[in-house]
Amino acid sequence: MRLILLGFGVVGQSFVKLLLSHSTDLYNDYGIKPKVVACADNGGIITCDQGLDLDRLLNVKKKKKSIIHYGVKGNRSEILDVIENIDAEVVIELTPTNIVDGEPGKNHIISAMKSGKNVITVNKGPLALEFPSLMELAEYNRIAFKFSGTVGGGTPILEFAKRCLKGDRIISFEGILNGTTNYILSKMYEGLNFSEALQDASEKGYAEKDPTLDIDGYDAVAKLVIASNFVMNMKSTMKDVRREGIRDVKPSQVLNERKKGNAIKLIASCDGKNLVVEPKPASMKDPICVDGILNAITFTCQHSGQQTIIGKGAGGMETASAILRDLIDIRSTIRS
Ligand code: HSE
Repeated sequence: MRLILLGFGVVGQSFVKLLLSHSTDLYNDYGIKPKVVACADNGGIITCDQGLDLDRLLNVKKKKKSIIHYGVKGNRSEILDVIENIDAEVVIELTPTNIVDGEPGKNHIISAMKSGKNVITVNKGPLALEFPSLMELAEYNRIAFKFSGTVGGGTPILEFAKRCLKGDRIISFEGILNGTTNYILSKMYEGLNFSEALQDASEKGYAEKDPTLDIDGYDAVAKLVIASNFVMNMKSTMKDVRREGIRDVKPSQVLNERKKGNAIKLIASCDGKNLVVEPKPASMKDPICVDGILNAITFTCQHSGQQTIIGKGAGGMETASAILRDLIDIRSTIRS
């Protein structure tokens, strides 16, 4: 499978490491022999029709900070041209989330779809801003559009709701959708102050490039919008969500709630009508009351009752595993 990789930060590099370490399984189990024919980072884009040498790509990025030093010249203005004109089956869009206008990811995704390429993204901006129109464009161009890693990192929250709860009606859902704030709130209970905990989360690669997206609740809002559209067929966008972040949560509040058997969590909820992201106490006995970078979400269903899924919600390898899952799905679709 010929892949175009747009964005080569923590997640992009982890994905390439997964391709290298899983190459035998990918071929034996799924018939996938991936070739990265183009790769872009903020330095520019490089292409190679025979497939880039992935070990060398990782080394160049590590040593010289940009893949542009790989040896094939290119610049950012050529990205759309590459997406449209290079022969490839899948464009993997991994540029940082931008919740103001979704760019540059939105344009990358639209160009890929219009040129008939399947798309995988973990970029939340384009979907949070324009979910319905992107789904429509994917359908119109008859391509697969996969975004498993946008919600829950490596935890298959969207697939769980869509596939495993098939036939039941999801009435509402609520949970923790941002790993960084959950990590900060957990560390605050352990005695770390807010900025120490945030620095820790950034160093571990959990926080967004602009961590205010995490702290002020925008990242959770984006995920709530994606989940409500995908799982409950709502037509919501970010402005439909009532939002409050964790900036004003005091260590004393965290400690006081613990004495009552609660933990303060940034909870995202959807009742089919109202969408809310806010910090509030959750009982320690509630399965969604998880710590660290874990995400947890409870779906309340008409027939099967409540179902909770828990897993790591952030991290390079975790999110890269969602991309691999999506790639395998696309491969099965192409085959059938
Ligand atoms: N910054 C995000 C989080 C990364 O902490 O949940 C995963 O989307």
